[in-house]
Amino acid sequence: MSSKGDSRETFSSGLAVFFATLGSAVGLGNIWKFPYLVGANGGGAFLLIYFLCILFVGLPVMASEFFIGRKTRKNAIGAFKQLKPGSPWKHIGTMGVAASGLIMFFYSCVAGWVYYYLFKAIRGDFAGVTLDSAKAQFGSVVTDPVTPILWQVIVMAVVSLILTMGVKKGIEKITKTLMPLLFLLIIIIDIRAVTLPGAAEGLKFLFHVDFSQLSGAVILTAMGLAFFKLSLGMGTMITYSSYFTEDNNLLGTAVKVAFADTLVSMLAGIAIFPAVFAFGMQPGAGPGLLFMTIPLVFSQMPFGNVLLIAFFFLTSIAATTAMLSLVEVPVAYFSEERGLSRKSSVLLCAAVIVVLGIPAALSADSAGLLGGVTVFGKSFFDLYDFISSNIMLPLGGLFIALFAGHMIDKAQWRQELTNQGRIGLAGAVGLFRFIIRYVTPALLVIVFLHSIGVL
Ligand code: PHE
Repeated sequence: MSSKGDSRETFSSGLAVFFATLGSAVGLGNIWKFPYLVGANGGGAFLLIYFLCILFVGLPVMASEFFIGRKTRKNAIGAFKQLKPGSPWKHIGTMGVAASGLIMFFYSCVAGWVYYYLFKAIRGDFAGVTLDSAKAQFGSVVTDPVTPILWQVIVMAVVSLILTMGVKKGIEKITKTLMPLLFLLIIIIDIRAVTLPGAAEGLKFLFHVDFSQLSGAVILTAMGLAFFKLSLGMGTMITYSSYFTEDNNLLGTAVKVAFADTLVSMLAGIAIFPAVFAFGMQPGAGPGLLFMTIPLVFSQMPFGNVLLIAFFFLTSIAATTAMLSLVEVPVAYFSEERGLSRKSSVLLCAAVIVVLGIPAALSADSAGLLGGVTVFGKSFFDLYDFISSNIMLPLGGLFIALFAGHMIDKAQWRQELTNQGRIGLAGAVGLFRFIIRYVTPALLVIVFLHSIGVL
């Protein structure tokens, strides 16, 4: 049986487990990374590769994190300490805590812009906006030395408040309320988007199947995306699964979350691209698409401002629920391994994120206060993103796969995946173990070598 601390919280049901975990997966990645990458890299062909990456890397790593978390009921570092006492494996967790900080430094900055844009949309700032004024508005936000930091602080205050309420009253309650709302909002925007004249172009951009664009680099992009999207490789899923219910079907949850997350990404693409094409714009990547094209396009359509508010509200929800899981990694560590109360732990993490997030906020644009400062040829903003997403997550994923495949024996896997024989999955355990032992690590080595530029 798993060891359980008596006072440790758990989620209250399978549905709560699902929404909390989905809340972690669904984030800024769905709205600005996924749709663009699909459209730009061969549409349906890229999707096919992405699904294969989820199948052979994403799902096995996710299930491994679930195994480690639920079996030990510990934070990302404590879990490895319990399974292999006195071994260096615990540094997978150390790296996870560090990666969570690095991601948060820039993620909270972008989330701050999203909150601010929601505020601006409510205030009516985008009425009659033109391409030039949309550019100017975004430019003044990213180069301002005060406003982005202020909104970053607001974001961190919201995230901290929810986290101090705990696992059940905080994370569970918020994700269970907001994730269904997110689905509703995105479907409403989708209906408007696909009924615009000229919407077909946008759908074509997203769903055309072009195998000629597939290359090694594209395949590796799909793999990296699968990692970031499903919040893997840094102990987020270890931490969340340490709160899972005892009867949760781990493989089932992994499949459901990966499926629902991909669905949200596609719905986001359907919300964005038909509108972009209907108004004769070019689809661009990242911040430009989210903060310049979207206000411009939405404000031109009937009910545009209401939809724009809905859009930035749903993006705020996605960013916030993802940040809960990012910050929970160090929060659980400091409160369980370092003797801090949960509240002090949250405050400590929030303070560090705000302070170290400032260089990211000031360097997000080359015209910003710290925009000209470079370390290893990158601004702080890009450096945080690069080190965490391109190096730490794949490396963490590789070590998690190696640990789960080679340090955990088949009997333990069978016990945990079948919930001590209660779920009829025993036949699949051998196949699963083969994938996690050999296939997943091999594929990850390729991604990792690519991400550091060796391959
Ligand atoms: N999955 C989140 C997104 O798509 C980002 C994230 C990465 C969250 C790693 C937690 C851990 O935006």
